[in-house]
Amino acid sequence: MQVALFGGTGFVGGYLVDELLAGGHIPSLLVRPGSEGKVTQPEKCAIHSGTIADQEAIEATLQDCQAIIYNIGVIREFPKKETTFELAHHEGVKKCVDAALKLGVRRFVLMSANGVKSDGTAYQRTKFEGEEYLRHSGLDWTIFRPSMIFGDPRGRLDFATILKRQIVDLPLPAPLFFPGLSITEAGQFRFSPVHVKDVAAAFIRSLTDETTFNRTIVLAGPESLTWKSVIKRIALAGDKNKWTVPVPVLLVKSIAALFDRFEWFPITRTQITMLLEGNTGSPRELSGLIEKSPTCFNRNNLTYLKTV
Ligand SMILES: NC(=O)c1ccc[n+]([C@@H]2O[C@H](COP(=O)([O-])OP(=O)(O)OC[C@H]3O[C@@H](n4cnc5c(N)ncnc54)[C@H](OP(=O)(O)O)[C@@H]3O)[C@@H](O)[C@H]2O)c1
Repeated sequence: MQVALFGGTGFVGGYLVDELLAGGHIPSLLVRPGSEGKVTQPEKCAIHSGTIADQEAIEATLQDCQAIIYNIGVIREFPKKETTFELAHHEGVKKCVDAALKLGVRRFVLMSANGVKSDGTAYQRTKFEGEEYLRHSGLDWTIFRPSMIFGDPRGRLDFATILKRQIVDLPLPAPLFFPGLSITEAGQFRFSPVHVKDVAAAFIRSLTDETTFNRTIVLAGPESLTWKSVIKRIALAGDKNKWTVPVPVLLVKSIAALFDRFEWFPITRTQITMLLEGNTGSPRELSGLIEKSPTCFNRNNLTYLKTV
């Protein structure tokens, strides 16, 4: 089938394009001006120029499609560049749902994130609002909520590459954040890292799998790992042994409060809050969907970190 893909030029989007093509589908992509060079296998895709604020471009992308995958998301806001959580996670979803209703495209698969909620950070709240609009649309929807996604970033960024560059490669001990005075909890928040190919396979499988219709599904890898063990495994993948040091989160948040509006500063207060919440889940739903055990976050599957 022809599938409209919004957010097809980033880390996960490239794998969604590959998986769509491998499944015999034709991706129809909305691509921002300047991002044309980021499309994988562009000769096999229908490409439409525009941003998610442009209703006409959305409708052009949807023409002749039987399904939609909405994968747009941002982890930091830069309002001067029109990069906001509201536009990427809520307004954009609304525009696509409305276009789908207008053009009679019934199948809609949404990329959300594990841990989103109405009273969370601006990232979580806007993702939740996008989810809610879709849930009440009357379309045949599926919402996927992955934990942290890893895998060869192929020129983009996955979370393991970011942590390697910003923490593991620095000649300083890795910070193990802790809330308040709870030093014994340093670095103990947990994630279930999930491989990008497993995520892409779940999305493409769900397009036609009616058991996933009208359901919100967490995509989690096979292990629930502490921040400390995530850092250790990233270091090990590069044959390093990384020292660690407990760091009060209040200190990092105070520094971020001063600098997180600048693009060069590595982390925002929103990201720190979500990091400390952790996010884990059972791998059962994912393994059922892709009919195999999800990929482990281990040395064998992190070899790409040697070259990033
Ligand atoms: N990576 C993770 O660990 C993780 C975990 C849970 C959920 N997610 C979700 O997965 C999705 C993909 O994440 P990712 O890591 O692949 O991010 P990414 O590499 O930054 O890709 C984001 C995509 O969204 C597009 N985009 C952003 N703002 C846009 C706008 N205003 N108009 C049109 N397109 C816009 C980007 O286009 P350009 O190429 O033009 O910038 C790109 O295609 C996001 O929704 C994210 O929230 C990711």
